[in-house]
Amino acid sequence: MNRLTGKVAIITGASSGIGRVTAKLFAAEGAKVIVGARRKAELDSLVAEIEAEGGKAVALAGDVRSEDYHKALVATALEHFQKLDIAFNNAGTLGEGGPSTDVSEAGFADTLAINLTASFLAAKHQIPAMLANGAGSIVFTSTFVGYTVGFPGTAAYAASKSGLIGLTQALAAEYGPHNIRVNAVLPGAIETDMYREHNDTADKQAFITALHALKRVGTPEEIARSVLYLASDDASFVTGTASLVDGGLSITRT
Ligand SMILES: NC(=O)c1ccc[n+]([C@@H]2O[C@H](COP(=O)([O-])OP(=O)(O)OC[C@H]3O[C@@H](n4cnc5c(N)ncnc54)[C@H](OP(=O)(O)O)[C@@H]3O)[C@@H](O)[C@H]2O)c1
Repeated sequence: MNRLTGKVAIITGASSGIGRVTAKLFAAEGAKVIVGARRKAELDSLVAEIEAEGGKAVALAGDVRSEDYHKALVATALEHFQKLDIAFNNAGTLGEGGPSTDVSEAGFADTLAINLTASFLAAKHQIPAMLANGAGSIVFTSTFVGYTVGFPGTAAYAASKSGLIGLTQALAAEYGPHNIRVNAVLPGAIETDMYREHNDTADKQAFITALHALKRVGTPEEIARSVLYLASDDASFVTGTASLVDGGLSITRT
């Protein structure tokens, strides 16, 4: 408890899954949170839940492909809570999958826009507020896909998410001297809407489950706790990492 007391955090992709659970955990740990995604009704119900539990939250709905949306999220943090300490840039999509020779240029570009360019734009506007604050912690949501494991049919997703690891390293090196830490969390398969949409048969679920050393998929809470660690002062000497939280998927061949 209270690991984020006095901190102000932006969380994107907060309308469901990993982002939603992380927003609730951050608020329970004392952070004031600004929650973002496109689905306003889901964000409003999340804010109501956080407030009912005694936390503080503000919702701002928008599309992460818009640079103006990132400016507005930071402005909302400053307007309501006067500073920005933490950003969990987590919104993401599987994008257009299937045989790579069939993937459209528009589908590939859109996947990069949501998963990679949006994360850059988010950081671009969060960093000045963190510099003014004298410190900050940014966490991106990447994945094992395209980093430790190549999966057929995931070219756009893999390219966009592994690009985040380069972005993490560049920003960590550039802003480390200003006490801003930047890390990426790399979940294994996590039981969320995205997982269920992609693994929509018992066979697919059995296949993906067996890939993990722990022989199960993860929960959004298990990722949220890792993000809490990376975002908090507990990780004060941790920056530039690609932090696998994947149930051993990347190291097992059994
Ligand atoms: N589940 C897994 O197995 C897994 C594994 C590794 C990495 N990840 C990553 O974890 C992150 C969260 O995914 P999840 O599993 O929690 O799935 P999810 O429940 O589908 O969450 C995706 C979130 O991203 C938001 N989002 C998508 N496109 C957006 C856009 N253009 N503008 C604003 N928000 C947008 C969605 O909100 P709206 O639809 O309301 O806009 C939603 O809140 C993603 O980056 C995903 O790639 C997931």
